[in-house]
Amino acid sequence: MLIVYHSQSGSAAKLAAAGFEGALEHDPKVRFLRAADAGTAEVLASTGLLLVCAENSGRLAGGMKDFLDRIFYPLIEQQCSLPYALLVSAGNDGRGAVAEAQRIFKGIPFTEALEPLIIRGVPDDGVLQNAREYGAGLATGLEMGIF
Ligand SMILES: Cc1cc2nc3c(=O)[nH]c(=O)nc-3n(C[C@H](O)[C@H](O)[C@H](O)COP(=O)(O)O)c2cc1C
Repeated sequence: MLIVYHSQSGSAAKLAAAGFEGALEHDPKVRFLRAADAGTAEVLASTGLLLVCAENSGRLAGGMKDFLDRIFYPLIEQQCSLPYALLVSAGNDGRGAVAEAQRIFKGIPFTEALEPLIIRGVPDDGVLQNAREYGAGLATGLEMGIF
């Protein structure tokens, strides 16, 4: 499993780190990369993808969009289809980022393993636990082969 995140203020990074903690309990080989450091090779080597980023101006944060733009055609050429899940850090909405990711993943195409999770506001302990469980849920499902 591969976790790819992009964060400006640290909020999305905290959620991603919590998702990583949860995933590690079920998949000791889970990789955790910043979007700027991840590319097609890392995705092809994975069994599933957890994306974590902010909604900025009603869209996916630019750093995550850059990652998806870089992998889009190479993954289509490789006929790579993987399960994915999306965790969005948002101020008061998040739905635009979700819609954009869903549109992009129809094209590659990847399958939505879990319903996207939007976390609004600065992450507190409660939502960090939700993010931990979200990462754990994806890792467990991948391990069991149910996605
Ligand atoms: C330039 C900019 C645009 C933003 N646009 C939105 C938005 O459209 N909808 C929303 O819910 N939050 C928006 N936010 C708030 C961020 O999504 C939120 O603060 C998030 O937690 C930031 O995560 P990060 O700093 O870790 O990337 C915006 C923040 C910035 C800096």
